[in-house]
Amino acid sequence: MSIDIEILNGDASWPMAEPLLSAVWPPEVKATLPWGQIPMAPADFRVLVEAEDQGLVCHVGMLRRRATLNGRPAHVGGISGVATRPDHRRQGLATIALNAALQTLKHEGSLGFALLFCEPHNFAFYSARGWHPFEGEILAEQPAGHGRFDALAPFVFDLVQKPRKGVIDLCGLPW
Ligand SMILES: CC(C)(COP(=O)(O)OP(=O)(O)OC[C@H]1O[C@@H](n2cnc3c(N)ncnc32)[C@H](O)[C@@H]1OP(=O)(O)O)[C@@H](O)C(=O)NCCC(=O)NCCS
Repeated sequence: MSIDIEILNGDASWPMAEPLLSAVWPPEVKATLPWGQIPMAPADFRVLVEAEDQGLVCHVGMLRRRATLNGRPAHVGGISGVATRPDHRRQGLATIALNAALQTLKHEGSLGFALLFCEPHNFAFYSARGWHPFEGEILAEQPAGHGRFDALAPFVFDLVQKPRKGVIDLCGLPW
């Protein structure tokens, strides 16, 4: 299978990403998930993997966020919306797209760590790719105000910092 990988602006590439994300998380299914009703921050950039004659088959969103770790400024690289079209799974596409996203975030130089949020059935997938559970507390903007975000589990990819415990304040919406 021949693939093309592009990294595009998040807003501009939303029309391309939306059909894949809606297929992976249909709105009626998403509404039933613990995180489905929570407002999430849109991606600043997207890794888009296209297969020849197949269109978009895999997506990874990226964000940059001026957050805090234990009260100190922390520049965080966010990963969101990791999704592969069902008929293209287990071919390494999400691994390729995640690596491309991490390379992009690493090139920024100024990021302390990368952070994503996932459901328990994906813990093994991320652990096998070098991500570590963050066992502390996540604070974020929520419809009810600023508070604890625990609808999904946080996983960290170490860059300069290796946070495992403490408090990460996302200083904005989760992703
Ligand atoms: C989770 C998800 C993104 C993985 O996508 P994917 O493209 O299938 O991921 P990969 O192919 O890179 O890896 C998946 C598995 O296939 C295996 N694999 C990779 N290439 C393979 C190949 N050529 N042949 C067989 N297996 C292969 C990998 O080893 C991996 O197994 P592991 O997790 O036991 O290590 C996909 O299942 C998905 O979209 N799920 C629904 C949405 C979701 O839950 N997203 C995560 C949000 S946090």
